[in-house]
Amino acid sequence: MEPNKATSTIRRVAVFGASGNFGTPITAALSQDGCFDVTIITRVKSRSTFLPGLAVIRTAYTVEDLTKALEGQDAVVCAVAPSGVEHQVAMVDAAEAAGVKRFIVNDFGWGLRTQTHGLPEFRETIKRCNVGWDYAAKRAEANPSFTWTGITTGKPIDWALRKFPAMGFDVVKGTATIYDAGDEVFTGTMLEGIGQSVVGVLRHPDETANRFVKARSINTCQNELLQAFQKVTGRQWPVTHSTTEVMKMEGGARYKAGAGGWTLYIAVAQLLDPGKARNVVAPSREESDADLLGIVEETPESIAERVLKMRLN
Ligand SMILES: NC(=O)c1ccc[n+]([C@@H]2O[C@H](COP(=O)([O-])OP(=O)(O)OC[C@H]3O[C@@H](n4cnc5c(N)ncnc54)[C@H](OP(=O)(O)O)[C@@H]3O)[C@@H](O)[C@H]2O)c1
Repeated sequence: MEPNKATSTIRRVAVFGASGNFGTPITAALSQDGCFDVTIITRVKSRSTFLPGLAVIRTAYTVEDLTKALEGQDAVVCAVAPSGVEHQVAMVDAAEAAGVKRFIVNDFGWGLRTQTHGLPEFRETIKRCNVGWDYAAKRAEANPSFTWTGITTGKPIDWALRKFPAMGFDVVKGTATIYDAGDEVFTGTMLEGIGQSVVGVLRHPDETANRFVKARSINTCQNELLQAFQKVTGRQWPVTHSTTEVMKMEGGARYKAGAGGWTLYIAVAQLLDPGKARNVVAPSREESDADLLGIVEETPESIAERVLKMRLN
């Protein structure tokens, strides 16, 4: 059977989760691109605030109400929090009913959909996400006018480095924690690159139809980033050493006890587990979709400079 193709141009784009960690740069990139009319779809009781000047529709997340909200849209981007992924099935049904041509599913993750080397604690979350992804694929198979794309991004590298000192760098204090030998390579995509990846998919609907695309700004490791932070700040950063095994044990114990806070421990272990390449989305730029999507390749220094200047909301 011929693969589905979205042959016409995508102009009108609706975004779910537009004020989130990922939704904010995605919405900014879409509106700055100049080719898209952006509409934000939000929950009736949401307290989120949005970029000014964009249309906002508040709606219940039922198929009927969402279908009305999505009327006239060419594409939908789903960037809701992990707690909202269950709504994807209704969003897909509504998008298809409203004649939407492309549905970008809620991935922005580590390629765990297609890889088997995720740590066990993440399996439940992946299973919940898969329901929406599989459903979008099933609808696309049944209806050639409806297509989907997933965007795999690896670590949102600037955001994660700035926000979570446990990822290895406390940029406020100027100190580092290096796990194991510090040489485990992982894929990172800048927030700007994540925004650009959505623009790239919608500008290349045929090449990106009905598959997961691989975004990346860099493949790097902790040792390279430490050198970069030291070079950019012009001083040595005090270094503490730890291991991903410690993070796995602490995160695993919290997970088993049903206690909060396990995610960050397991995320660090997933990212830096030595020799496992658990967070390598694409070993090289050529094996990624970065060129097609128009994502700039970064260096450890360019990332360090950006992270040091970054302000968190
Ligand atoms: N690769 C990584 O390491 C990594 C890291 C973080 C996130 N992610 C992924 O990126 C995606 C977006 O995450 P995020 O951190 O940007 O999310 P977020 O900032 O926590 O939330 C984004 C938006 O989701 C909506 N939302 C929240 N709870 C909801 C619910 N129960 N039902 C429906 N909508 C809800 C809200 O929008 P409204 O108020 O407008 O409705 C919120 O502003 C997720 O798929 C997440 O797994 C990946």
